[in-house]
Parts: sequence; structure tokens; C-alpha cells
Amino acid sequence: MENLEDLKIQTLKAIDNATDSKILDEVRVSVLGKKGAITELMKSLASFSVEEKKEMGKKLNILKTEIENALETKKEALATAELNAKLEAERIDVTLPIRPENQGRIHPVSKIYEEVVSIFGEMGFEVAEGPDIEDQFHNFNALNMPANHPARQMQDTFYVPNPESADFDDSYVVRTHTSPVQIRTMENKKPPIRIIAPGRTYRSDYDATHTPMFHQVEGLVIDKNITMAHLKGCLYDFVKAFFELDDIPVRYRPSYFPFTEPSAEMDIGCKKSKTELKIGAGTDWLEILGCGMVHPNVLRAGGIDPDEYQGFAFGVGIDRLAMLKYGIPDLRTFFESDVRWLKHYGFLPLDESSMTGGLSNNGGAAR
Ligand code: DAH
Repeated sequence: MENLEDLKIQTLKAIDNATDSKILDEVRVSVLGKKGAITELMKSLASFSVEEKKEMGKKLNILKTEIENALETKKEALATAELNAKLEAERIDVTLPIRPENQGRIHPVSKIYEEVVSIFGEMGFEVAEGPDIEDQFHNFNALNMPANHPARQMQDTFYVPNPESADFDDSYVVRTHTSPVQIRTMENKKPPIRIIAPGRTYRSDYDATHTPMFHQVEGLVIDKNITMAHLKGCLYDFVKAFFELDDIPVRYRPSYFPFTEPSAEMDIGCKKSKTELKIGAGTDWLEILGCGMVHPNVLRAGGIDPDEYQGFAFGVGIDRLAMLKYGIPDLRTFFESDVRWLKHYGFLPLDESSMTGGLSNNGGAAR
């Protein structure tokens, strides 16, 4: 047993010299494997006296631990070196131009999203967000739609069970509109508030102009002395910028939404023929969005005193805007992930929308 020190020196040297994990494992087996040197020595202890067993056992255990640690350290070093070598071998130059036929496209919904954000961003609006899975308080109650309110039936809601409660009023919903972000914003922010909230919304509906998942953008402005004139000016500027027209006829029709009073729908002037829709001129009207002055109950639910502050809000369908602006006839095709469709209606990745560089100037360049 006097060669324990030799065994240690030899093994540590072999570990050090191992150039890959396979060789390292062979070293491990030769020492710690079933027939390894240390294993054999451990077995031979059986024939020793109790005293010797104690002493040698201790020495062997220390040696074993030392070798195990050296093996582990080397294993990690080899793994890192092997990974680095692999990464180096697989290095790709992401700045190389791609083949034009393989170029990806920006989806029209993303394009419109960017356009809307740049228009309202220029007016000083911030982008706000809320969760897709909402509680009924934010999706309905706080928006002046208490349980059993008839307006709840206007929205074909998908309910999501609450694992903690069997009570239907506690169940969640996938938000039916972006309006709950109004409440979430008021809960977290003091006026003045000027936000837009673009995002996904869900309703049980399916035809050429409805899909179960669709997109809306919500707008909310709250400050002192806000009037309907601000609403009209803001939305007029929006539609002009969005449709890239110097002027566009608009009208507001009285409407009903529980969360606004008064409520209105905004129409824009257009010319409809059997084959074409031309926006900005003509004697026809096209409904474009819902809007109104924020209902005092909604301000209260958001913790804002309606005697001190007023506001206006609006909600627009992003997909509908995309259909109108880029002449896409069927909404269902938006979400079918057909690359031929995307190639036809999509936009080149570097066609960024901005108020200074142009919204859709290059729009359609991909087509
Ligand atoms: N949440 C409404 C819907 O989905 C849209 C809407 C209308 C939003 C009027 C508003 C508004 O903020 O003031 O049908």
C-alpha cells in the first residue's frame, strides 16, 4: 500500500492529460470503476486488522474524494471547451444579406399596430398593456357592466374557469375588448393620462369579418376640462394621418356603450362600388370606431374623482383597419399562417412606419 502516493500522482496526471471526455471517462473507470485500482484496494481491506482497516480506509477515502473532485473539475473544463469549439465551428454571419426569395414579411396586423403607435406616439400617447386573461371586474363590472347587465350579452364571451372558486362570478374571461386596460391604467397612474392599449381580444364569432381572436386598440385621455371637442379633434387627426389624406369627411353618430356617456360611433366618408372602396371622398359612410366621454362610474371604479377629472375613450379594430387600408377581403385569412398570403399582403422588414419617414410609403413594396 506504500504506492498510494504513486497512484495519486499517476491518476491526477492522467486526468490532466485527458483531451476529451471519452479519455477522461476511461481514467475514471480505471480508478473508480468496478475493477478500478481504488475499488480493488477497498476490497482488499477485508483481510486487514481492525486498526489497519480504519487507517487505510480513511486514506483511501481521502484519495477517492480527491480524485473525484479532480475528475469533476476536468469534466466541466472539457465540456466548456467542447461547447466553445462547437460554437466556433457553427459561427454564422447574421449580417449577410438573405436570398430575396426567402425574405420574411411583416404581417399586416403588425404593420398597422406600428402605424397606430407612431401616430398616437407623435400626439404624446404612451402604450399601455393588460393581461389577455382578465377577471370579470376589469372586463365588465368596472366598465359599468355589473353582473346581469344586458350589455354583457353583446359580447360573445369565452369564460375561463377559476381553479379556486366554483362561483361563476369568480370565473375569468379572455378579454372581450381592450377596454379593461382603461381600468388597469387608472389604478396605476394619476391623471393626466394619455394612453393607447393595442392588443389581442377574443369573442366566440367566426365569419369573413370576425375571428375568435382579433386585435383592438384602446385609447384613453383623462385630465381636467377634457371635452368632446378634444375627442373629435384627436380622432380626426388620427384618421387623416392613418389613411394618409389631407382631409377626410367624418361624422359622429350617437351610439351606446356602457362605459361612455355620451357615446358615439365615428364614420368616415367613402365611395363604395361593387368592386372598390375608396376612402376619403364620395357620399357613402363607413363605420370606423366607437368612442365617447368616460362614464363617471368608470372613473370612480378606477379611483378617479369625476368631479375633478373628465376623459374620453375610443376603441378601434386593428384587423378591420388593416382590411380597409390594404384591401384585404377576408379576416380569417389573417390567421391561417399561409406563407403565400403573407408574401402577397406582408411588408418588408425594414419598412418601418414613422410619422417622419412615412407610414406606409413603402407599403405594398413587397407585393
Ligand atoms: N370596447 C368596445 C368594443 O369592443 C369599443 C369601444 C367603444 C371602446 C367605445 C371605447 C369606447 O373605449 O369609448 O366594442
